[in-house]
Amino acid sequence: MKTYIPTDIIAKKRDKKQLTAEEIRFLVDSYTDGLLPDYQMASFLMAVYLNGMNDEETAAMTEAMVNSGDILDFSEIEGIKADKHSTGGVGDKTTLVLVPILAAAGVKTVKMSGRGLGFTGGTIDKLQSIKGYRTALTEEEIHRQLRTLNAVMIGATGDIAPADKKIYALRDVTATVESIPLIASSIMSKKIACGADVIVIDIKVGSGAFMKTMAEAEELSRRLIKIGESFGRRVDTVFGSMDDVLGYAVGNLLEVREALETLRGRGPRDLTDLCLEIAQKIIDAADIKADAAEILASGKALEYFGKIVTAQGGDLSSIDDPNRNAPFVREVKAPKSGTIAAVNAAEVGMTAGMLGAGRLRKEDEIDPLAGITAAKKLGDEVKAGEVIAVLYTSNESVLDDAEKRLLAAYDLK
Ligand code: URA
Repeated sequence: MKTYIPTDIIAKKRDKKQLTAEEIRFLVDSYTDGLLPDYQMASFLMAVYLNGMNDEETAAMTEAMVNSGDILDFSEIEGIKADKHSTGGVGDKTTLVLVPILAAAGVKTVKMSGRGLGFTGGTIDKLQSIKGYRTALTEEEIHRQLRTLNAVMIGATGDIAPADKKIYALRDVTATVESIPLIASSIMSKKIACGADVIVIDIKVGSGAFMKTMAEAEELSRRLIKIGESFGRRVDTVFGSMDDVLGYAVGNLLEVREALETLRGRGPRDLTDLCLEIAQKIIDAADIKADAAEILASGKALEYFGKIVTAQGGDLSSIDDPNRNAPFVREVKAPKSGTIAAVNAAEVGMTAGMLGAGRLRKEDEIDPLAGITAAKKLGDEVKAGEVIAVLYTSNESVLDDAEKRLLAAYDLK
């Protein structure tokens, strides 16, 4: 690899000039290998944050991050492989509903998910609230289950895009997360390295999301699709609202129960609609003739959910078990009558975290039973004294503060 002087590249971006793919690759590789110090990478990221990157630069950044680690290959397994990613929501249990719908339609999905941090939940934490569920499978088990059940739902395997991991951690502490080219290359590097042919990205928009406006979300969508094209992958996007929690449940077992209710055809409208929209986009992009809504209504997706969970060691009866409830429960009541004019979904997520459903630090333990079930949604009328939400926790001492925080997240007008 040609050697460059890092300050020349940083200065070029500072002066709003276009970088070559080699220059970008040099910075990313040197940083991943520990040869470029944090302060130079941070300075480069801030220059990108301020001056942006065009489509070629963004594709080069993505490629450098893809090539920094393992690249998974499922090409020996017949059929279209699909993947879905969400930019991070509160109460987002779509994977648990979507993957079984796709499996029933004949689309193969290796769904690798992460753990939750901050106000967003992680699908792996949700799955681990099912007793016995194994989120780590061997390569042989993954291949076998893909052939027999069309899907696995697991934690990340291997070393996918380590450059993104390192750069994302630096962005987090240098105020450079909210950059569309950096977000687009970060997301796509992981999805491309995971080997899917068809990728749908659920771009969250609203108070609880990185993208606060539709204009930003549309620009991110354009970038993601463009990167997909440059790698020969079919990429589509949906826009999921984060002006409220998705569905009613926030918290691990509570969300798995809501996902199961959705698979039984009794799920909340917003969650059901979003899952069907994503599923149909993937089915269409995979050129399969199937109707996602019909699959859900037929009970086939519910059947696949049961088979996938059981194959991965999960005890299905532990989901509905009425004895598995948090010991401390508090109803949060409306202080006055009115309409719910706004919901700060991020704050609802943080409140669930306080109750034990999430982590503030990477090493924190999760309480699978903790969380919140909202009783009201954005736009609903409420009477004074009516229940807005119910809090669940194993830690009684946090209930008073959690109640105050939750009430502050609901704007009653
Ligand atoms: N999600 C990602 O994976 N990367 C970002 O930069 C933002 C959201």
